[in-house]
Formats: sequence, structure tokens, C-alpha cells
Amino acid sequence: MCWVFGYIGAPGKAAREVLAGLQRLEYRGYDSAGICVINPDKNLEVIKAVGKVNNLKVKTDSIDFSTYHAGIGHTRWATHGGVTEANCHPHLSQSGRFVVIHNGIIENYAELRDELIAKGYVFHSETDTEVTVHLFEDIFDGDYLSTMTKLVAKMHGAYGLVFLDRDNGNQIFGTKKGSPMVLGFGKTERYISSDYRSLIGLIDDYIILEDGDIFLVTLDNYTILSGWQDADRTRQIVGEDEKVVELGDFPNFMLKEVFEQPRVLEDVFRGRIDFSSNSLHSDTLEHIAMLGIKKVTIVASGTSYHAGLLGKYYLEELSNIPVDVVVSTEFKYKKKFVSSDELYIFVSQSGETIDTLDSLKIVKEQWGHVFGIVNVPGSAIARAAGQGLFTRAGTEVGVASTKAFVTQVACFLFLSLYLGQKNGLDYRKYREIIDSIAKLPEAISSILLSNEAIRKVAEKYANSTNFFYLGRAHELVIAMEGSLKLKELAYIHSEAYSSGELKHGSIALIDSDFPSLMINGGGILSPKNASSAEEIRARGGPVIGIIAKDDPNKQVYADVIEFDPLISELNPFLEVVILQLFAYHIANFLGRDVDKPRNLAKSVTVE
Ligand code: M6R
Repeated sequence: MCWVFGYIGAPGKAAREVLAGLQRLEYRGYDSAGICVINPDKNLEVIKAVGKVNNLKVKTDSIDFSTYHAGIGHTRWATHGGVTEANCHPHLSQSGRFVVIHNGIIENYAELRDELIAKGYVFHSETDTEVTVHLFEDIFDGDYLSTMTKLVAKMHGAYGLVFLDRDNGNQIFGTKKGSPMVLGFGKTERYISSDYRSLIGLIDDYIILEDGDIFLVTLDNYTILSGWQDADRTRQIVGEDEKVVELGDFPNFMLKEVFEQPRVLEDVFRGRIDFSSNSLHSDTLEHIAMLGIKKVTIVASGTSYHAGLLGKYYLEELSNIPVDVVVSTEFKYKKKFVSSDELYIFVSQSGETIDTLDSLKIVKEQWGHVFGIVNVPGSAIARAAGQGLFTRAGTEVGVASTKAFVTQVACFLFLSLYLGQKNGLDYRKYREIIDSIAKLPEAISSILLSNEAIRKVAEKYANSTNFFYLGRAHELVIAMEGSLKLKELAYIHSEAYSSGELKHGSIALIDSDFPSLMINGGGILSPKNASSAEEIRARGGPVIGIIAKDDPNKQVYADVIEFDPLISELNPFLEVVILQLFAYHIANFLGRDVDKPRNLAKSVTVE
């Protein structure tokens, strides 16, 4: 998505600070980027470039910014209008006095644009954003906050808007609804950003703005209005342990994050499972257990949706509670039957996904019990849910979700065990699962040791243009997640199917150029998966088996990636790591940018 960054401080620093801020935010949206800086002499420089922030940096190299003390910058994920320089933010008002950057979508922009054109305003871009700056100029009454309240009243949609005034460069002002925004306070500098983590190391404390807030920041002061009133927002201190995430010796963040999975799986259970006494600890879950929940609905998108699908298996099998899983984009607009014995779980790595957030708000408005499984503390979903489990995966920079996924699944497993022990879960099963959880980090470490073997198999198939990812039950969900990884990282078409379902039509696609991955780590459905693999082989299709080392049906597969299995409920944790690496190596082989795949953004803050 688009991301905004603003700075006000020392002369000469504005361009450097804004560009550095954009680079820290770039993983979240990266079609194009632009900055605007101003100086006290009312000079205003706007520079834009298509592509990565580096292209923008190159363009700024020869410019003397020594007098510029304030600036705003933007990385764009195109919604309205193609990826062109004209559509890059910042956008200027008709007179060139005001300048704006925007994250979100102004839904009534066409109507506002027509009104402004009728008044003589000339548009230079195809964006929805440009209306905001012309409109601001059109209704400007000499007071930034007052004009902003009028602007907000005219706009429908979601927005994080940040403005500068060329004629008075001592302040930055704006508003937000639906799009994240924080004000950051350094010793002698002020910042605006879509994500406070882009400000770590620069600020002492920050304020998370709420929907509807209108703000104005100067070096000495700030005002936040909510409605017509001054809003009292808490200044939060940046924790001492919060650091800028470094790559270390890894070539990219995706690989680093894949290799962090043994550690994050220790972190996610720390203090929650006591392995010496096999006991579970969570005040939050104790409260949930007392609600007498009879049904669960899980709402999420993308990889988090897949975590929810695994959550369904765990909750149904271990806690004996029926579960629906709905993608948030669909949930939002479907009829809801919210009842007091139902729990709604919202899953999100970023905690900012707009459809998941909106869905949560709808359930809350109907007094439903809401619960978040979120990675980012302080994010909008974490704050709106008010209760839940943090996944403790740490900052995930790679756009393709990896370590966040395994920790989301771990949270579902923990929740299912917790509710299960109150709901008649068999003690032997409970112990078996706890014992296997204790072995998980080491089991994943040994998968990571097979990285080279996985690379060899992946590269053998790297020029294929289609893949099936097959499995049943838990492993079908892992097939779905593996298939998504391949699509987003390598840009190769793939489909996930229940292995038993293939023969009902899609097997017609199989030929020698159409490989399938069979996710088949063992368990009672393993022979069925092997039979499906036989059926594909009989039609000339190569099948790559993701199988246990002692699988008796090894001969069915053209290639195998073998691993030491745990119990079948926990094998998905291992299999997904293999599929993450499989997709990673194909993408790498094809020269893709694995951290920032094309057309994507790390968090999706527009509908
Ligand atoms: O931040 P969220 O978990 O709410 O994001 C939802 C999806 O956009 C996300 O999981 C996406 O599918 C992954 N980046 C894919 O790897």
C-alpha cells in the first residue's frame, strides 16, 4: 500500500530524513515514490520517480537541499491511475501553495473532481488523491485545522493525509481515517509516519492517531482534534529493546525470516506452555474459556486466512468447537448472525489489514466477542480487539509471510489446547501434542539443514509454468499456503487442491510439463495421498513428494523432499517451511525480488 512520511526539523536534513524514512517503509509498497521539501524562503522542491526509492535517491543526488527543513514523502502502491511519475505523490494544489501525500482511497473522488473542474481546477494526475489538495485550497479559510474539518466532511473513504504549506513551512498538518498514522517526537525534530517502527532510533516517543483525528505539528507544539474537541492522546515511549531490523549475514529478509522460525516458535510458547509441568497459562484464554463459547468464526486474509484454516482443524479436533473461516473481504459484506456464545477471531500479521479491521469493528458494534491474533502490538486490530494473543514473531519485513504464519498457527494450537482441556480433550492426545510442541524448534532446524537439497529439487522445476499443490486435511491447508508462496514470489501459476478432488476434473491438465507437489508427511490419509500421486504418475505427470523419511510409498514420486515427521497434527509446521524454501529457491533462480515481489505490498490498508 501507500505509505506516508513527514519531517520537520533542522535545515539541510529534510530531504535526507524523508528519503531514509521512505526506504524504511519501502517494503510496504513500492511502485513509485516521491518527496516534497520546503525551506523558509518559500521554496518548494517536488521530486518523483517510478520504481524503488533508490531511483528517487539517484534523482536527488545533485540537488542542494542545505536550506530545506521540512518535507513529506510517499511510497505508492497504485490504486487509481497507472504507475507513472504524474501519478506519484506528492500532489500540488492549483496555485502550488499546498502539497499533499495520501494513503487510502477517496471513494467520492470522481464527484469532487467534477465539481473542482467546473470551478476551473486543472488536474495533472489520474489519482483520487489530487482532489484533496485542490479542495483544501478551494475551501482554505486561513486556519489549517478548521479547513481540515471542512475537508473531512466532504470526503468518503479511507485516508491518511499529510499536507505542507509552502507559505508557512513551520508545520505539518493532516488527518486520518482507516489508514495508520503516528506522530513521532525526537529531541529536536518531529515526524509523521504510517508506522512508528520506521521511526525507531529517531524518536523518544510517539502518538498513535485514531480515526477522525486532525493534527497540526510544529517543532514546539502539536494539536490533535477529534471532532471539534482537543483529543488527549497518550504519548508512548519507544521500548529499549526495539531495534531497527538488520539483515545480518542473510542475502534478503525472506531467507532470514525463514531461518528465524525455530526461535519464534520458542518465543510464541514462552510463558504460555510450561513444558516441565505440561501446563498452559493465559489469563486471556481463561477469560475466553469462561464465556461458554459454542461456535468460532475466524476472519482473515491471505496467509493469515490459511492460518485460520489450520486453526479450524485444531479447534474442531481438540476443543470440539465448530468453526467457520471466512476471508475478511467477504465477511465484511455478508449477513452476520452474531450471538453471545460465539467467538470471532481476527488474524493479521500487520494488524492493519483494512478488511479484517472493518470486519472486527462490525462484530464489535453488534456486541460480539472479538479476539485478535496479531503480530504487531499497538496496531489497529490489536487495539480494536482489546484481547487476544500476540504472535511474537518480531518485525516481518519480507512481503511473503513466513515466520508470522507459523506463529499464528502456534497461537491457534495453544488456544485449541487451552479450550480443549476444558472441553474433554483426551489427556493422552494433550500430552502427545505438548511433547511434540517441545520438539518443534529442533525439528524445524533440521528442515533448515536440508535447505540445499530443497534448492536442488526446486531448481529442477524452476522453468515449469504451472504447479498443483496437493494434500488432504491439515496438509491441504499447507498446500494452499505453499501455492500462494510460489505465486507471490516466483510469479508462477499454481493451484492447491485436495488430492482426492483432482480426479473430478482438474486431472485433465496433467501432462509431463505439469508438476505436482504432494504434501504427505504421514498419518491415516497418507496412503490415500500416495494413491492420488499414482494416478498423476499414470498420466505422465511428475509428482514431488514432501514426505516422511520412512514413507513406504516413496517410489511413487519423481523427486522427494524428505523430513523427520512429528505427530501428524504438527507436521504442517515442518511442511510449510519446506514449501517456503521451495518457492524461495525457484524465485531466486528466476531472479525475482523475493523481499518485494511485484504488485504486492506488505500490509493492505485499502479495500
Ligand atoms: O497483515 P495481514 O496478515 O492481515 O495480511 C493479510 C495478507 O495480505 C497477507 O497474509 C498476505 O497474503 C501475505 N503477505 C502473503 O505472504
